This record gives sequence, C-alpha cells and structure tokens, in this order.
Amino acid sequence: MCGIVGYIGKEQAAPILLDGLSRLEYRGYDSAGIAVCTAGGFLQVAKSKGRLQVLSDKIGGGEDVRGTIGIGHTRWATHGEPNDVNSHPHLSQDEKIAVIHNGIIENYVEIKEFLIAEGVRFVSETDTEVVAQLLAFYYNECGDFFEAVGRVLRRIEGAYALGMMCADHPDMIITARKDAPLLLGFGDGANYIASDATALLPYTRDVVYMEDGEIAVLTRESITIYNAMQQVIEKEHSHIDWEVSAAEKGGYAHFMFKEIMEQPEALRKAISPRLRGGRIVFDDVSLTARQLRHIERIYIVACGSSYHVGMVGKYNLERLMRKSVEVCLASEFRYSDPLVDDKTLVIVISQSGETLDTMAALREAKSLGARVLSIVNVVGSSIARESDDVLYTYAGPEIAVATTKAYSTQLAVLNMLGLYFADMLGSVSKEEYEAIVKGLEALPTQVEETLASCEDIQKFAASYFNHDSVFFIGRNLDYTLGLEGSLKLKEISYIHSEAYASGELKHGTISLIEQGTLVIALGTYGALFDKAMSNVVEVKSRGADVLALTTQSHRAEMEKTVENVLVVPDTHPVLQPSLGVVPLQLFAYYVALHRGCDIDKPRNLAKSVTVE
Ligand code: AGP
Repeated sequence: MCGIVGYIGKEQAAPILLDGLSRLEYRGYDSAGIAVCTAGGFLQVAKSKGRLQVLSDKIGGGEDVRGTIGIGHTRWATHGEPNDVNSHPHLSQDEKIAVIHNGIIENYVEIKEFLIAEGVRFVSETDTEVVAQLLAFYYNECGDFFEAVGRVLRRIEGAYALGMMCADHPDMIITARKDAPLLLGFGDGANYIASDATALLPYTRDVVYMEDGEIAVLTRESITIYNAMQQVIEKEHSHIDWEVSAAEKGGYAHFMFKEIMEQPEALRKAISPRLRGGRIVFDDVSLTARQLRHIERIYIVACGSSYHVGMVGKYNLERLMRKSVEVCLASEFRYSDPLVDDKTLVIVISQSGETLDTMAALREAKSLGARVLSIVNVVGSSIARESDDVLYTYAGPEIAVATTKAYSTQLAVLNMLGLYFADMLGSVSKEEYEAIVKGLEALPTQVEETLASCEDIQKFAASYFNHDSVFFIGRNLDYTLGLEGSLKLKEISYIHSEAYASGELKHGTISLIEQGTLVIALGTYGALFDKAMSNVVEVKSRGADVLALTTQSHRAEMEKTVENVLVVPDTHPVLQPSLGVVPLQLFAYYVALHRGCDIDKPRNLAKSVTVE
C-alpha cells in the first residue's frame, strides 16, 4: 500500500524522506515522490514512476532538493495508472499546496467537476489531486491554512491519511487521518509523520498513533493534535521497541527467508507471556466466562493467510469448545447479511491491522451488535483500536509481502485462545488441556528442529520449480495447511496451484491429474493418515508426481509408497499445522528463488491491502 513520510526540523529534508520511503518499500508501490518547502517559501516537487532509486537518482540522492521541511510518498495505484504525473505529491494549480495521500477519496469526481467549473485545471487522473486543488481553493477563500484543511476534511468522503504543506507556511506540516494508518514521530528539534513505524526507526521511537477524524499540526518545536471538532487533545505516546535491524534484512538474502527463520523466536514472544504455571493467561481478553456462555455463534473473519489461520481455527475451536464456529472471508462477510447479533463473537485476524476488507467486516459486525476480538501483529493499528479485545502476536515487523512468522504466531494465539475459552466453558479435559499446553511449550523448539532439517527442500524445489500447476491435497487440518502452502507458492513463484480436500478430488478435479502432475500430499493429521494414504495411491495411479509431507511417526509408512517425503516432528493434533507449514513456506521460497522471482515484493501484491 502507499507509504507516507514527513519531516520538519533543522536537517535537509530530502535525504531523510528518501531514507524513510526506502523503509516502506516493502508495502508495495509503483511510483514515488517528495515535496520540500525551500526557505524562500517555494514548494519543490520531485516524483517518478518506478522504484525509489529512480527518484533518488533524479535528485542526486536528495542533494538537489533543498529545504528542511518535506513530505514523501510511495504510491500503490488505485485511481490513475502508475506514471510520473499521477504519482504523489500533488500540487495545486497555483503551486502553493502540496499533498500526499494514502486511501481513496470516494466523492472525488463531484468535487473535481465543481472545481473545474470554478476554473481549476487538473493535470492527473488521481483522486488525490482533488484534495490539493480543493485545499488551495479554500485557502484562497479564507486565507487560513488550518481552517482550509478543516473545510476540506468536512467535504471529502472516503479513506485518507494526508500529509499537507503550504508554501506560505514553510514552518508547518498538517496531517489528518480517517480509515488509513498515520502516526506522528516526536524528535529532538524535529518532528515526523509516517504511515508505519518502520520509517521512523532510525529517528525516533516516541510516537502517537492518530485516530480517525484527528488532525495534527507539526512544527519544528511541537506537534499539536486536534479532534474532529478541532479541539486540542492530548494523546498517549507509544514507544517503538523494535530494533532497527528487525526491520532490516540482517544478512539474509530476503526478508521472507529472514522471517521464516525468525519463527521460533516470534512464537516464543507470542506464547511465553501467556503461559504461566502451566496455565494459559490472557490479560488482554476482557470477555468473562458468563459472557462467553452467552455467545451463541462465533465467526472468524479475515483475508488471505489470516483467513487460512481462521480455517485451522474452525476445526480446533469447534473441537475444543464444542461450539459452532464459522470462518468467513472478510470481503464476503460484509456483503452476506451475516447472522450477527449481541450473542455473536467475531474473531478478526489481521497481520497489518489495516486490511480494508477486514476492517469493514469488523465495523459491520460491531454495527450488528457483535463483540469483536482481534488477533493482530501491528500494534496500534486501526483494527486493533476498533476491537473490544485485541491479542497482539508480537511477531515484530514483517516486511516480506508473503506472510510467514505472522501467520505462525496468529495460529499459535488462536489455538491458545480456543483452549483458553474451552477451559472457561469446561469443555476440555484436564489431560487434553495439559497435553496442548505441553505442545505449545515445545513448539518454538520443534520449529527450530524443523528449520534445521529442511535441507531436502532445496533439492525438491530444484526438481519441481518448472511445473506450471501444483495441487496440494489433504484432509481436515491438512486441507487448511494445503490452503496456506498453495497461497505461499502462488504469490511468490507465480505458479498456478490449488489446495483441495483430498476426499473431494474424485468429485471432479481428479480429472486434471495426469502423468507428471505435481501433487503435494499432506499427511500430518494422524487421525486420517490412512485416508491420506489412499488418496496418495489414487493420484499416483493416475501418474501424479507426489511430494508428501508427514510426521516422524508416519514417515516409514509414507515412504513405502512415496519416494519424496518431507517430515516434521509429532505434536498435539491441534498444533500440527504449526509445524507442517514450515516446510511449505520453505518450498515456496526455494521454488521462487529458482524462478528468479522478486520474493519480497511479488508483482501486483502489497503487504497491506487498504483498498477494496
Ligand atoms: C499472505 O502471504 C498475503 N500477503 C495476504 O494473503 C495477506 O495474508 C492478506 O492480505 C491479509 O493481510 P492481513 O493479515 O494484514 O489482514
């Protein structure tokens, strides 16, 4: 998604803006630009299509743009194709106003028509330029920059995180946010804005997360925050405790590989604080046992890999809590007239906490009276702040577009939540509870063991990277595992792949299995291992080339039938997908490596999808 940075201080702004934007590249973008206000009160804009390096080369690494106040932007196109003109910042016609924007202005057409009728000439196809031109229109009308901003915000509709500068005020940046993330950074004689904390790490760790409707005025000396009524408010500061290195590659070839390898540590951070004396403790869940017993329906709502976590959750939470659990794609939930009321618990899962489909589903659920509990990685994100309860996964910054450690920590937290609730309801035996807790305690180390024993994967990836179609088959939790393995492979290697419930193959899809078709057969769910084996035989007899995944205890049995077998340690069935996913992540990674794909920034994808 779009990245936003802003700086006002004593240093030259351009190099700081370029550095901040480089730390946001992972969000996915197709153009970049900066605007700096010179001491003489002149807005200098440099922007270009393509990678940030193109922009940097254009302005001598920032040397050619002089001024100590500026805003910068990386754009992920929504309105108007990726090109120099459509990239941000956008200037008003009189070049007095510069604006950067993340989000979508839904009523930009009517405003554009109004302004054109007022004689304004537009140069781009974007919705954002409308904000710049409207701001200039009101500024020329009232002569007050802050007041003009207020008028704009009362007129535009949609989602926005805005950074705004006025040439007549070379000592001020104004920002505003609604439905798109924006945070304020407090420095020493300098202040900052950013769409996420990663951009600020080298400069300040003292931040405030803006809320919807708020406006902030940044000068070199201070940041003043206003609520929607334009009253000055005080907000709680947060401290970013990530290490700068955590948001950098640290010697790995790709962020994705680094984050796969970080999973043991990430799991320790997600699990350990919530395991005390053999008991699961959720200080951050306010739902009481009585309220839980009052819940008649549970939805899990998410997108992409977070949805796949929800698919695992459906099987596990129903098994543990003996309550019906429905898992829904957020983009479907919000338009399905869901059966939600005050007896419904909606569990929302999102790494970024900014996915628009998921945010919209959350709001739909709340408007229908549901209680919302979210599982989120990015602290202070919009979904986190609008939930009744939020469980952070503490995976740290996940930079690669393809999620790995966030998926794994979401899975662990959701499984822990299911066990926690089951214990509250009295629906799980003491023995089962203790067995799962034991499995959770061992999980990080078992993931470490799995990572250490995956050398075969590179060999298999070298054999299979030229396939143009791959099937993942499995039953029950292995089916949900296949969904995630398939998505990982698709999104970074661009190979078409499909996850299928093994028992469903014979109802149609098996017609696609022919000589040499690659089938990744998942057999880690012990209770259905024999069924899994029969499906392996079924596809092999039709010529499939099978790569199997199973557990240590079933290895020998699987190797009687399949030559290429990946093995993970045994754990409690509820937790088995947490181990099975690791080889599938690595398989996707190595296949993409062989295919020379842009692993951390796959084509067409963004880390956080904040558009519909
Ligand atoms: C996962 O590898 C994908 N990048 C994507 O499916 C992602 O899981 C989805 O967009 C949801 O993102 P979120 O968890 O930040 O809401």
